[in-house]
Amino acid sequence: MFLHTCLVFFSTYIKLMPKITYIEHNGKTHTIDVAKGLSVMEGAVQNNISGIDADCGGGMACATCHVYVKEEWFDKLPKKEDGEEDMLDMAYEPKKNSRLSCQLTVSEELEGFVVQLPEKQA
Ligand code: FES
Repeated sequence: MFLHTCLVFFSTYIKLMPKITYIEHNGKTHTIDVAKGLSVMEGAVQNNISGIDADCGGGMACATCHVYVKEEWFDKLPKKEDGEEDMLDMAYEPKKNSRLSCQLTVSEELEGFVVQLPEKQA
């Protein structure tokens, strides 16, 4: 009975974790279940995805969590704050679809979210 309850709880918990796909610059793809409330950066760091350094730990002070957001997702995200835009100016090869992954909070709205990692971080 206890095991059954644990399995039901665990499977429900897993379903509550949105899948985020990280595509490295070389095309290697990682689709990870990331707990809601974590940032997209934290999901990468906790799962040892190479290509996101996150030197400042999410303090929006380094731009080494820079990602490119797939076009179909870009307009669904919260708007950038001024500080994020300033930091992206210091990122490696920023583009109009660039975001700091530490500023993107995982929620059920991000189920299936896809980010591409730059060739390197600044
Ligand atoms: S982790 Fe440093 S700006 Fe995102």
